[in-house]
Amino acid sequence: MQHTLQREWWKEGIVYQIYPRSFQDTTGNGVGDLQGIIRRLDYIKSLGVDIIWLNPVYQSPNDDNGYDISDYRNIMSEFGTMADFDELLAGLKERDLKLVMDLVVNHSSDEHYWFQESKKSRNNPYRDYYHWWPSEKGTPPKRWSFFDEESNAWKYDETTDSYYLHCFSVKQPDLKWENPKVRKEVYNLMEFWFKKGVDGFRMDVISFISKDINYPELPESYNGEFIPFYSNGPKLHEYLQEMNREVLSKYDIMTVGEAPGVDVNRALEFVDEERKELNMFFHFDLMNLDRTEGETFEMAKEPWKLSEFKKIHSKWDEVFSEKGWGSMFLNNHDFPRTVSRWGNDSRTHWYNSATMLQTFLLSMRGTPFFYYGEEIGMTNIKFEHISEYKDINTLNRYKLEKQNGGDLIAFLQNEKHASRDNARTPMQWDTSANSGFTTAKPWLKVNENFKEGINAASQEEDKTSVLNFFRKMVQIRKNHKTLIYGSYNLELAENEQVYAYTRTLNHERYLVLLSFSTKKTVVAFEHLDFTKVELIISNDDIYKTGRLKHFELMPYQATIYQLL
Ligand code: GLC
Repeated sequence: MQHTLQREWWKEGIVYQIYPRSFQDTTGNGVGDLQGIIRRLDYIKSLGVDIIWLNPVYQSPNDDNGYDISDYRNIMSEFGTMADFDELLAGLKERDLKLVMDLVVNHSSDEHYWFQESKKSRNNPYRDYYHWWPSEKGTPPKRWSFFDEESNAWKYDETTDSYYLHCFSVKQPDLKWENPKVRKEVYNLMEFWFKKGVDGFRMDVISFISKDINYPELPESYNGEFIPFYSNGPKLHEYLQEMNREVLSKYDIMTVGEAPGVDVNRALEFVDEERKELNMFFHFDLMNLDRTEGETFEMAKEPWKLSEFKKIHSKWDEVFSEKGWGSMFLNNHDFPRTVSRWGNDSRTHWYNSATMLQTFLLSMRGTPFFYYGEEIGMTNIKFEHISEYKDINTLNRYKLEKQNGGDLIAFLQNEKHASRDNARTPMQWDTSANSGFTTAKPWLKVNENFKEGINAASQEEDKTSVLNFFRKMVQIRKNHKTLIYGSYNLELAENEQVYAYTRTLNHERYLVLLSFSTKKTVVAFEHLDFTKVELIISNDDIYKTGRLKHFELMPYQATIYQLL
């Protein structure tokens, strides 16, 4: 099939996500900062990536590490100043790198001026910036909350004898998008950053912004299914279209929404070009694959299956085959490290599985998003004790579990695989103290395996490192437009060891073979029409089976062939 897709810089670009708190400390307080990112700009450029996504760097009391913003036009003091930000942006531009910021506007911090005013009295001019429920109406209808110690999204506030809504922590009150003044405030702050020259936004839980402000009682069918309920509010698309009209359409920028609760059936509502809403969004189908149904942070009892992994990616590729565009990611600041989760972080299989997963992201259609440290194969830290965790999500769920007399040992076991802190440990730069991240005590422990080769400096020296494989594969994607725009065709759908697919554009065709197995495997493609193959890349030695259409793969081997 010919592609009908329009070329765009954000389709061809490769994204590198930075969690600033954990990237590089330059002030000696154990917390990463903007000067730290500036110091590492040449390294970032050397990766070959094009677009940097920064997790929130705005002023924040840090209840949820910057996802609780108290001033949208200022920089978090721990990270630096606006002058540092301007210097960072200039440094990126000099290197021809784009900058995407995090837009967190489903909620603000309770320390934001708007909320401080809003809670003062029932007739304060900012009252209607948030969702309030006066107590004379009784207890508000059940709403579930992430990060709340009691999992209750309504918090009683004495001053005005009312409850306010917070779908996340009590310090993250939800903004009331139904109020046009709130929307105007958001568009203005977006303009503020666009005028500075930022190249786009990743939009935090954007699928949650529209609410039914009659706050109806939940029907029975919603029990335990809050995410889909929150994510498709009545005016969501009206707001996104308005935002596009008022701000986005005026700039050459990219947008990627975080969209929990959005499935393939609704996908095009967000990114069909004709609707003028967003460019891309992150779905959660893959992130839920190894989780208990409806429980984002609870590991499923059964291991995930490769056939299901393929099914998810195939169906999402399909939905964007003629309209819209997808995003590809395997981890981020909310989910455990790629190699520990989808690969194998044992000594034997770490190298192959880390590079195999890089090959996967870089050979699929859809913009690939990498998370700092993924280029060197950083792994989960798997903390033993609750005292080592810093994330509000783990800490409050622990409290809840304890209160309910739950099994705390099982809880901690779960967190070794599921906690967000696994992905937040400091960047492993070199073999010096604290992996070169800080000279002080780091805010979150450094993973000790920086001493065993998982650090950028050691891998820089080694031609065959995960880091240098990443660079090579990045260049391959850039030099092969077929890997970006070509159509995708799944092969061997039911095979539980190997993920195989072709990518085709005009007369050019590639075969991607990815082993997810700890054993050697052979796969055959008798039905494909080719007379010769040319090897494009492999993360392991090629074993010749002696038969053209049969390929033997080593454990976690990744190879791409051109079919001729
Ligand atoms: C998003 C962010 C997450 C944050 C939450 C609340 O899911 O990715 O880190 O805690 O929204 O803002």
